[in-house]
Amino acid sequence: MQSVSNVPHPALPGADLDQVVFLFQRTYGTAPRTVASAPGRVNLIGEHLDYNGGPVLPFAIERRIWVAAAPADEFLLVSSAAGGAVVRREEGAPLGGGEWTDYVMGVVGQLRQRGAALVGARLAVLSDIQPGAGLSSSAALSVAAAAAVGRLADSRLSAEDLAEVAYRAEHDYVGVRCGRMDQTVVAHAAAGTAMLFETSTGVRRGYPVPFRTWVLSTGVDHTLADGGYNARRAECERALDLCRGRWPGLPSLAALEPEALPEAMEILPSPLDRRVRHVVTETARTRAAAAALERHDLVEVGRLLVEGHLSLRDDYECSVAEADLLVRSAVEHGALGARLTGAGWGGSVIMLATDGQAAEIIAAVSDGFARRYGRSPTAWSTTAAGGVRLDLNA
Ligand code: GLA
Repeated sequence: MQSVSNVPHPALPGADLDQVVFLFQRTYGTAPRTVASAPGRVNLIGEHLDYNGGPVLPFAIERRIWVAAAPADEFLLVSSAAGGAVVRREEGAPLGGGEWTDYVMGVVGQLRQRGAALVGARLAVLSDIQPGAGLSSSAALSVAAAAAVGRLADSRLSAEDLAEVAYRAEHDYVGVRCGRMDQTVVAHAAAGTAMLFETSTGVRRGYPVPFRTWVLSTGVDHTLADGGYNARRAECERALDLCRGRWPGLPSLAALEPEALPEAMEILPSPLDRRVRHVVTETARTRAAAAALERHDLVEVGRLLVEGHLSLRDDYECSVAEADLLVRSAVEHGALGARLTGAGWGGSVIMLATDGQAAEIIAAVSDGFARRYGRSPTAWSTTAAGGVRLDLNA
């Protein structure tokens, strides 16, 4: 769930296959046998629903992490960010502290559990996903590592397997209580589409995203937010327990009918009432946004994004002032919509705007942000990109 705090990102933008091969060769003096890459993601809408049984609507971004690998008799890892220092790792307890090598070793452990005969590997990692920006660099790293190392071990891994290996590595090994949204979209994304992922059933369906989306970074590192994320999960679990007292057998908070919301709000103590209101209204917004994408109604998508942001700000209370300012200012200057994406407590805001207006809006928003915070937000745009892929298999 988190952005790995020290995942390398020396090559913003333009890290690519040649560079990771070069890094591998320079470090180990031989060529890699395989290279896999996986994208980061933004979530268009459907926030904090993947652990509440609701639908989410993410898409992959154009920025990726590359993992080059060759067999060896121990595990050696290098990232260009660490000044070329090679890290030697054994499988065993994670080092903790969001170490990027933990994610890779979590993947190795999962692959071994699935029967992969893996003695060791030389690995080189290169990324152009800004860490701490809420763009899921951890899922990109885990899924790309699963694809590269799985290939070395001759494991036949489907996209489902890659998502599951990456999820287990992050959730069970690294110990982040994330949902399954990030790994699923990183493994399954198709270019030009957002993926409506029904987390209660596992059903996925693509919806057209034929436009560019702007990503504005708040500059607030959301890796500091893990406490808040886990606290929200615990609140939702408690709220579900209480709701089951009134609606026995309720499978998840997202399954609560909107008509039952007023009664739920009466039963639940504060702030659980607001948390549940977010889950129920966000579930409806996410389905409405998918329907609006299908009929190419971007005005409606934009409206839903703004509503979703207000719900994150007021009901889920996971926004930060920097994100609120970016959203408000984007809308004031004519954006179709904007909202915080990902877990929150920092990270990035996404913005929809017509092509003709985007540059002007970004300039005005950046000015206002710089006046308030003394620095400009980074802003860039992306199309909906493809998911994990094998870039080289020698
Ligand atoms: C993080 C987690 C996801 C999801 C989002 C919030 O990105 O990794 O599983 O819960 O936060 O929607």
